[in-house]
Amino acid sequence: MLAMVSNKPGIRNLEVRKIKTPEPKRNEVLIRVVAAGVNPVDYYVIGESNLTPSPHIAGSEFAGVVEKIGPNVKRVERGDRVSVYSWLFDSKCDMCTSGNEMMCDGGGMIGENSNGGYAEYSAVPEQNVFKLPDNTSWEVGASLGIAALTPYHAIKEADLKRNETLVVYGASGNTGMFAVQFGRMRKANVIAVSSRGWLKKLGAEYLIGREKNQNAIKRLTSGRMADVVLNSLGPAMWQDSLNILGKKGRLVTFGGWINVDGKGTGFVVPINMQSIYGRHAKIIGTTGGPLKDFSSLVRQSAKLRVKTWKKFKLEDGAEALQRLYSEKRDGRIFIVS
Ligand SMILES: NC(=O)c1ccc[n+]([C@@H]2O[C@H](COP(=O)([O-])OP(=O)(O)OC[C@H]3O[C@@H](n4cnc5c(N)ncnc54)[C@H](OP(=O)(O)O)[C@@H]3O)[C@@H](O)[C@H]2O)c1
Ligand SMILES: [Zn+2]
Repeated sequence: MLAMVSNKPGIRNLEVRKIKTPEPKRNEVLIRVVAAGVNPVDYYVIGESNLTPSPHIAGSEFAGVVEKIGPNVKRVERGDRVSVYSWLFDSKCDMCTSGNEMMCDGGGMIGENSNGGYAEYSAVPEQNVFKLPDNTSWEVGASLGIAALTPYHAIKEADLKRNETLVVYGASGNTGMFAVQFGRMRKANVIAVSSRGWLKKLGAEYLIGREKNQNAIKRLTSGRMADVVLNSLGPAMWQDSLNILGKKGRLVTFGGWINVDGKGTGFVVPINMQSIYGRHAKIIGTTGGPLKDFSSLVRQSAKLRVKTWKKFKLEDGAEALQRLYSEKRDGRIFIVS
């Protein structure tokens, strides 16, 4: 099969070449990859050294068609359209048995701790494979594992309720465009911190600018301010996102690093404690989501939409990754067969 392999860290060292197609083991499913998402995690993984297995195939988020099943596999059969839960888990540890597979003590991530979806075929554990509804597009199917699951779980943890106000920073990004849709599905009022008009079609009621947006939120909420704020963009907008929280507000974060001029912004932020205690605010951290959330997300997936910017063939996969931080980017990037 054709695969995009990393031998040395860095996108410029990626090599698309023929390697042996994996044979599915006892509890594994071999998937013919139809679409794979390009996310910050893939960009970082390709920059890491000492990846195993080596040579390594990245690609943590993908969907495709079942090509072959291992001897013990029962949940799917050849020809099924499927999406992949991105987290590896052992089903045994305290985290797994309490329904927190994304934090499995012995776990990891497909594409980082095992080979991923930047190849014609990928073999993954049966427990990670879920059948897609007929009406779910390939692009949505290839967005469920990370871009959709992460904000789905974050918004659930923040307990966003009907008629509350949700503010989404980085709303046009991979995770942001789904956060907007989940906010709308919960019948909340969604304010997107972005200039991209297409977010209104996905459910954003208002678009506002990135910085010093306290007055805009005050005006749009008649002084109530935000109930839930989603901000995974790191230090630059941290204090702004605390300042727009209302009483009993919840600020959720699942990341802190964004690429500015080829450099990360770091993860360390100063916190004005007055902006937390006086209003009984909560700061909540999340990462990915559990298997149960993935399963309910797959069931609802036909309702979801993706704004796609560009699709690349596997042969041009390195360019797909390079474009992730292009100033012109306007939607998701996929590597497709
Ligand atoms: N822990 C987890 O499980 C997990 C999972 C997924 C993602 N993450 C993290 O979550 C964050 C967002 O991920 P993503 O995939 O949605 O990223 P993304 O697709 O790159 O989107 C980020 C968005 O932020 C805005 N942005 C970009 N550069 C900016 C800058 N210099 N200043 C201000 N805003 C900027 C842009 O939106 P506008 O142009 O609309 O402003 C962009 O669309 C990252 O930190 C990522 O590592 C964590
Ligand atoms: Zn576990």
